[in-house]
Amino acid sequence: MKLLVATRNKGKLKEITQKFSSIPDIALFSIEDIEKEIGSISEVIEDGTTFAENALKKARDLSQRTGYPAMADDSGLVVDALGGEPGVYSARYAGDGATDAERNALILEKLKDVPARERKARFVCVLALVVPEKGEFLAEGICEGEISTEPKGSHGFGYDPIFYLPEYHATMAEIPLEIKNTLSHRARALEKAAKIVQLLI
Ligand code: IMP
Repeated sequence: MKLLVATRNKGKLKEITQKFSSIPDIALFSIEDIEKEIGSISEVIEDGTTFAENALKKARDLSQRTGYPAMADDSGLVVDALGGEPGVYSARYAGDGATDAERNALILEKLKDVPARERKARFVCVLALVVPEKGEFLAEGICEGEISTEPKGSHGFGYDPIFYLPEYHATMAEIPLEIKNTLSHRARALEKAAKIVQLLI
């Protein structure tokens, strides 16, 4: 089965390729691979109010343009004490030109008076698979943690430096990428998606 992946991110494509490596007869193609054949593909506007809506919108768009099965993801950080923020707005939190460090600083500032037991948060990833003539499928992965009181670590990206994993006594940015890739929200969603794909081919 040919599966198009709605991403331009090389890191994500590598992670997906690894997680799908045990599936026989599957060939993954990125947006850039497809653009070589059909020309440039415009970005989908992620205006959904849930991760699932955004992921489905991206996967449907790519599948409809090409006629092939497509997969897309949407992910972000959900902080209980902020009523679920930044959620689907994770990439744009603190305004359009803001840096990861500024976004992290904003969350720490908003939580400055919040005690440790109320700092629960989770990374959420939803993967959508749109397969012509077979249907639409969703796979969700969740990684539970807490918001730390200061940023720590230099691995990873985004909110990793303020996302504390109690069982590792470390933030997501302090643990090596190989470990993150076994426990992250994306890893968990990909494991479920791999099982769905296996049933479809
Ligand atoms: P996207 O769905 O991959 O575009 O992610 C949306 C936003 O969520 C990113 O810009 C990050 O701010 C945040 N995010 C998603 N996954 C992670 C992660 O693994 N670590 C840290 N931040 C993440």
